[in-house]
Amino acid sequence: MNEWVRLCSRAELPYEGKAKEFILHGKTLCVATIHGQSLALDNVCPHRGGPLAEGTIEAGKVTCPWHQWEFDLATGVSTHSPDARVASYPLRGNGDDVMVEI
Ligand code: FES
Repeated sequence: MNEWVRLCSRAELPYEGKAKEFILHGKTLCVATIHGQSLALDNVCPHRGGPLAEGTIEAGKVTCPWHQWEFDLATGVSTHSPDARVASYPLRGNGDDVMVEI
């Protein structure tokens, strides 16, 4: 069963158009900010395990730095193959904290 846990403070979120890695409860998350909204995906690329948080952010997608597969930041679905996806995790604010449902 999923639960809401503290991810970080609002000040620790990545800047607009950037991604950042967070390690939490045994998972590594890629958190990116686009259009003022932060979104969270699993950080491990399903192709060969590339670190998505080290990729580039553009047009609502993160591009894996290893072989350039793209993933929609809102859904985790790859534009390379609809069968390839990473888990996405809801975020919400709680005062100065950011919570994630994992
Ligand atoms: S490891 Fe991500 S595209 Fe190959």
